[in-house]
Amino acid sequence: MSGRKPLRLAIFASGRGSNAMAILLAVRSGRLPDVEPVLLVSDKEVAPVLEKVRQEGLEAVLFKPKTYPTKEEYERAILSLLKERGVEAIALAGYMRLVGSVLIGAFPDRILNIHPSLLPAFPGLHAQRQALEYGVRVTGVTVHFVDLLMDHGPVILQKSVPVYPEDTEETLTERLLPVEHETYIEALEGLSQGRLRISGRHVLWNFN
Ligand code: GRF
Repeated sequence: MSGRKPLRLAIFASGRGSNAMAILLAVRSGRLPDVEPVLLVSDKEVAPVLEKVRQEGLEAVLFKPKTYPTKEEYERAILSLLKERGVEAIALAGYMRLVGSVLIGAFPDRILNIHPSLLPAFPGLHAQRQALEYGVRVTGVTVHFVDLLMDHGPVILQKSVPVYPEDTEETLTERLLPVEHETYIEALEGLSQGRLRISGRHVLWNFN
């Protein structure tokens, strides 16, 4: 324990949930002593992540976007639960939706995202397929702060991963995933220890 008050984190996910689980298990194993996951939010009823995190004892709540008249109202509904739970930061972990002005306004520089490429290369869907089709020899993962544009905010950490000629989307995805998990944990460690400072597009790490 660091003696610091742990950062109350919400995780947003839409699908499989390997990043969400990696974060949760890192906390449970003592690897992220300054992070306290308090809630998982999903926009997809069928997302396997909901059951996975519930089995680990984390509250998981479904918000169906279509049941709200606007995106703003959808986000306001989420925000009111986040406030109730005292959430201080959000980790997007395969949340397949652009975060809007309501949540970004409520959590300025407190929303992180993971993307399976070295941004600004290959933003958006199917980053692994895009990398293979382009023919790059190296790709990787990016954890960044979230702004209103897709896969765009200041970069916190990046790690590279080789691409081999025989790779398929599946083999490349499989090579990237453990690197995603580790990179996300390192970025959350930095955030929770108050070591990240944003200066324009740059994230400065304080190592003291
Ligand atoms: C990951 O590749 C992540 O980088 C991207 O969506 C995927 C989610 O995977 N944003 P998982 O649900 O965390 O397993």
